[in-house]
Amino acid sequence: MLSIRDLHVAYGGTRAVDGVDLDIVSGQTVLLIGANGAGKSSLINAVIGLVRSARGQISFEGRDIGALSSDARARLGIGYAPEGRRVFASMSVKDNVLAGAVRLPAWEQGRRWDGMVAAFPFLAERQTQPAGELSGGQQQLVAIARAISGAPKLLLLDEPFLGLAPVWIQQISAAVRQMQDEGIAVLMTEQMARPALKIAHYGHVMRSGQIRRSGTTTEIRGEALAQEYL
Ligand SMILES: Nc1ncnc2c1ncn2[C@@H]1O[C@H](COP(=O)(O)OP(=O)(O)OP(=O)(O)O)[C@@H](O)[C@H]1O
Ligand SMILES: [Mg+2]
Repeated sequence: MLSIRDLHVAYGGTRAVDGVDLDIVSGQTVLLIGANGAGKSSLINAVIGLVRSARGQISFEGRDIGALSSDARARLGIGYAPEGRRVFASMSVKDNVLAGAVRLPAWEQGRRWDGMVAAFPFLAERQTQPAGELSGGQQQLVAIARAISGAPKLLLLDEPFLGLAPVWIQQISAAVRQMQDEGIAVLMTEQMARPALKIAHYGHVMRSGQIRRSGTTTEIRGEALAQEYL
């Protein structure tokens, strides 16, 4: 589904991503684990097209998407929830969530909203409230729900667990498992290895822009946990 070959991303002299190969198949959840500055966000942002790659190839469903705008990539079925809590602060919670689904017909938007409420019940209680009034964790969930509501084939989650209480981590994990069942591929980054290892199938340990170790979550567990304390 997603295939990355020899990807390089640089900011001036800084090599943020330095020759990465990565593949994801349908329904697979792949974890990118690494400390601050490892290059995780740069890789995710290159896939959605927010940063330009200096070299290498990114293909989605067999098509080279390297020259496409982020909008065009989203239309092809790539959903993205950025790092940090990016919501439209003055827009209602419901409008924030459905902003990811604007391309879908109204009946499908309704179905998507119902699915989001089933996964994250607080959305129903807070639906008319401006998203900027929510707690940090709730805003994070709204941003993730927005990315899911667009019915992506591939979902990019940049540090979805950052700073969240265990109860929210569990809800996000349950939502990711449901996407796995629906055949949706997920590429997620995390510094917090423990909860991420529980939901991912396969993982890569990243350091200084390079993948240092790859394997099933069982195979990389030791190395992934060691990264948490760097
Ligand atoms: N917009 C930018 N301009 C210049 N340098 C950048 C920019 N974004 C990232 N970098 C640099 O690129 C490298 C990789 O950063 P990146 O944000 O991809 O890491 P990360 O693994 O996501 O880190 P974190 O866990 O802190 O989010 C770092 O050295 C960082 O300082
Ligand atoms: Mg990052």
